[in-house]
Amino acid sequence: METRIFKINDITSGKDKIKEAGHIIRNGGVVVFPTETVYGIGANALDSEAVKKIFKAKNRPADNPLIVHITKTEDIYDLAENFPERARILTEAFWPGPLTVILPKKECVPDITSAGLSSVAVRMPRHEIARALINFSGVPIAAPSANISGKPSPTSGVHVVNDMLGRVDAIIEAGSCEVGVESTVLSLLDEVPVLLRPGAVTKADIESLIGEIKVHGGGNATEKVISPGMKYRHYAPEASAVLVHAGSEKFKEFALKHKETGTFFMAFNEDAENFSADFISYGSGDNPASQAKNLFSALRLLDIKKAKKVYIRLSPNNNDIGAAVYNRLLRAAQFNEIYL
Ligand code: TXA
Ligand code: MG
Repeated sequence: METRIFKINDITSGKDKIKEAGHIIRNGGVVVFPTETVYGIGANALDSEAVKKIFKAKNRPADNPLIVHITKTEDIYDLAENFPERARILTEAFWPGPLTVILPKKECVPDITSAGLSSVAVRMPRHEIARALINFSGVPIAAPSANISGKPSPTSGVHVVNDMLGRVDAIIEAGSCEVGVESTVLSLLDEVPVLLRPGAVTKADIESLIGEIKVHGGGNATEKVISPGMKYRHYAPEASAVLVHAGSEKFKEFALKHKETGTFFMAFNEDAENFSADFISYGSGDNPASQAKNLFSALRLLDIKKAKKVYIRLSPNNNDIGAAVYNRLLRAAQFNEIYL
């Protein structure tokens, strides 16, 4: 398949290209586009044939449901059976932005979009290009992260071209994603809301508005199956990864003992001076937001460097967006972690 590339710097000069991409979606095609979290691969959420193409392009298992993207809160009435008070409060506070809510779905949402579930995941992104694309297409856009299934999510134009060239009708390339990890996913199906995937909108942010929520698996970090998407090997580099809970000094000593051809060490900017070519930084140790932003690029760099093994130092700060970073790293390492 020939993939058209639309390079866009800003919404004003890129308007015609976004319009064109909107037409492609409206006509049943598939377009990769940037959001503030990660790049998405989008199609008309209400068109089964179009959505089928997303699953094929990503090689995604059919039992993993998609998030539907909208630009106006009232669009939720076209997709969800109800819009409870707490959903109203949360969407008013965090939309547009990286929060996805799960509600009972309306009949018009095809089974393929919700993977046969009776619920639908809805999010309103805040990235200007994503919003313009949804508006120009005139339809809600189903969009998972635009990686090949199992790989780290894409957060730059280079990542999406690597993964999706030849697999989709068009790619909108527009630089790096601001947040770097996918949206917070919150189920509002039960009496007590359940956090299915941590993201930039944190548990504390949510609880400050609607009271106590549950974390799937009770917040136990080793819980392996969360929402359908969480049961597969995920975010994984080719290298086998081990998470290391350690301070800078301990990690340095550990690295000296474990140096080997093909072995890499992933840690923070502050650790760089202790290492040489076998080192990859994923941000600053005391700044979890910078780790979120750099995480998937760092994991992808391991593949480029043909790493066979990687030891990844964890930040002691697993709060706020740090919880989302830890959640993704646990999956990248298939729950392999050690404490020094
Ligand atoms: O930030 C994001 O959310 C990005 C951008 C593109 O918007 N999208 C994204 O989609 O991360 P995806 O498909 O990679 O992750 C969606 C997650 C999966 O774990 C999926 O199983 C879960 O949301 N999900 C979707 N619909 C669901 C539902 N009805 N019930 C439970 N989980 C659901
Ligand atoms: Mg994904």
